[in-house]
Amino acid sequence: MAASKPMMRLFTNRDRYFKAYETFVVYSAKYEHQDTCTKTVLDKIVPHLPNLDQDNELRVLGVGSGSGKTEFPFLTALLKKYPIITNRVVEPDEDQIIKYKALVQTKGHELQGVKFDWRQQTLEQYRDTDGVGTKFHFISAIHSLYDVEDIDSSLMYLYDLLEPGGILISMLISDLCGMWKFWSRTSDLCKRCSHDMLSSFDRHDIPYVQSRYPCEMEITKCFDETSEDGDLLLDFCLQVSEFKKTASASKYKEVIEYMASSECSKKDGSKILMSIDWETVIVTKPSN
Ligand SMILES: C[S@@+](CC[C@H](N)C(=O)[O-])C[C@H]1O[C@@H](n2cnc3c(N)ncnc32)[C@H](O)[C@@H]1O
Repeated sequence: MAASKPMMRLFTNRDRYFKAYETFVVYSAKYEHQDTCTKTVLDKIVPHLPNLDQDNELRVLGVGSGSGKTEFPFLTALLKKYPIITNRVVEPDEDQIIKYKALVQTKGHELQGVKFDWRQQTLEQYRDTDGVGTKFHFISAIHSLYDVEDIDSSLMYLYDLLEPGGILISMLISDLCGMWKFWSRTSDLCKRCSHDMLSSFDRHDIPYVQSRYPCEMEITKCFDETSEDGDLLLDFCLQVSEFKKTASASKYKEVIEYMASSECSKKDGSKILMSIDWETVIVTKPSN
């Protein structure tokens, strides 16, 4: 029987990562969940952001913004209170920035007053080039800290980048959901979940407000060995590139069986669903 080949982290194969991510977006109805979650989150954030003089701009930083679909409703909600916004976008993937720019172009009329400042960089590269030169009133890192080199120092850096009274929101998968159980037991690669973010703020005695949003993803296709969507979803759940091609037959069987177990998923008629709950942390920097 063929042995497993070394596993490659999904994010190091960018094309496959974004294909897998887009498949995940479809089968998890990510943006529908995101819309509900964003509305709830914004109700908690916007009233508490600092008051600025009419001529002053609100400085916003997006970390790992992807195609901008998640940040777009943030910006439109912020525009209602702040007519002038500078939005710095730190996103390492060129194609994602191209998609974000296309979104800005099509939705331009809804984004009047927002000036974009594009940085095609990882957060680590941004830190090396800009340090804490510019401070921000609002920072979002939505599902984008899974692949940073060091989550604790990344979060503390983002906290340092806040203006007094500024607000940081970060979102990661909850360590209480089926996807986390699946991911943590089946892959040896470095993993991140909400617990890492909460323990980082706890260690530094930084208060936060935490919320959990229940979500599910349909994983039925993962059990169809002929399905390309199934392979992509499996890669996304494991954060491994081309798992089916790389794993030995016995490892593949073990992983699929565990995925079908009640620890990770449940049946709903002919569908199989996996919980992928999100956890959000909102941190407000004390005003001077
Ligand atoms: C799962 S996607 C989320 C995209 C978007 N925030 C959303 O919720 O739709 C993760 C994003 O983080 C970006 N990313 C990965 N590593 C990063 C890093 N070290 N610094 C900044 N962004 C990173 C990826 O390029 C990708 O666009």
